[in-house]
Amino acid sequence: MTDPAGLSRKRGALLFTHHTDLSMHTDRPLKFNTRAVHAGQSPDPATGAIMTPIYQTSTFVQKSPGVFVEDYDYSRGANPTRTAFQDNIASLENAKHGLAFSSGVAATGAVIHLLSAGDHVILCDDVYGGTNRLYNRVFAQLGIEISMVDLTDEAAYRAAFRDSTKLVWIETPTNPTLKIVDIEKAASIARERGAICAVDNTFATPYLQNPLDMGAHIVCHSTTKYIGGHSDAIGGVLCANDEEIYQRLKFIQLSEGAVPGIQECFLFLRSTKTLGLRMERHCANAAKIADHLASHPAVDRVVYPGMASHPQHAIAKKQMRDFGGMITIFLKGGLAAAKTMLERVEIFALAESLGGVESLIEHPAIMTHASVPADQRAKLGIDDALVRLSVGIEDADDLIADLDGALV
Ligand SMILES: Cc1ncc(COP(=O)(O)O)c(C=O)c1O
Repeated sequence: MTDPAGLSRKRGALLFTHHTDLSMHTDRPLKFNTRAVHAGQSPDPATGAIMTPIYQTSTFVQKSPGVFVEDYDYSRGANPTRTAFQDNIASLENAKHGLAFSSGVAATGAVIHLLSAGDHVILCDDVYGGTNRLYNRVFAQLGIEISMVDLTDEAAYRAAFRDSTKLVWIETPTNPTLKIVDIEKAASIARERGAICAVDNTFATPYLQNPLDMGAHIVCHSTTKYIGGHSDAIGGVLCANDEEIYQRLKFIQLSEGAVPGIQECFLFLRSTKTLGLRMERHCANAAKIADHLASHPAVDRVVYPGMASHPQHAIAKKQMRDFGGMITIFLKGGLAAAKTMLERVEIFALAESLGGVESLIEHPAIMTHASVPADQRAKLGIDDALVRLSVGIEDADDLIADLDGALV
């Protein structure tokens, strides 16, 4: 070997072939779990490593000024580990394109940056508290106009449109009251009115629901939740099919630089491989627990999209493959009972966030939704008796015993 450096650069050039389009390997479209394990990845041609390496590099050597491999000149713009994750998640959302961000909120902010001062947004009224705060306390100051609307009320939704409406932001199931918005209907109305429709799909995940197939333009995830699934990384992602929207979002990703670290991209890529398996257990456990809590004497009301008593159960059945791992309960004893329960649980951990393998429990009015003004919380029904459960993948019987022991 007279020129090992030159050889490694040559090998490097071979590395960057990503097989996003797995359909080329078969006549039949590949199913979710196969795509989850393989999409966006191929064995490293230099070493045969089955996992995409962590390309922990900020920059890439150029052969001649402006001549580099694919689009790899600087890792804020592109990095092979990130490309593999972006292609993988895009495949799971039936999207042409994926873009990864440093958090779910950063991904949300990138979508809002498609707008200009004076543009109007219809924002689902019951969104994650941080999304509410970002729209109403950061972007409203920059001249973006916002209407918070109950998107389960079609008349109210239609009435909220203005000539300047450029974006409809949907979250479904909503956080924390688990309302279900009819994505197909909401997206088709947004399209009729010339607005972009974005769906925060964090609670459902691509395993349960694919909003782009229902007419949405953009899907957003906090990958911190189910996609990461192990409560060990913060991240976000956007997926889109529309070429113009994708190019604009990619420009924002590059220009604002809110990109994830390379280690995080690797962790998310590792985690999507088990997303389907984990979601099946999350859903099965949650259904069992929701059923149990519905007849518990300390519980006033259980909200779970899989229950026939849920007001939008029919829509959930239509657009979701299963009903997810999130449950909301209202306790008969109000705040005092909620505090006692949250202090007494032993397997459920009292913590913000959701979607990890471990079960979490929290009090939205004091914790995740504290930044939502009190009058808005009251209107949405996020009261002191409301407790939110993120059901993990432990054994359901142990989780039920834990909740029974904590409820008074
Ligand atoms: C539905 C939803 N969207 C977005 C976010 C924001 O994600 P991140 O915390 O990764 O910024 C969260 C966080 O809890 C969420 O629950």
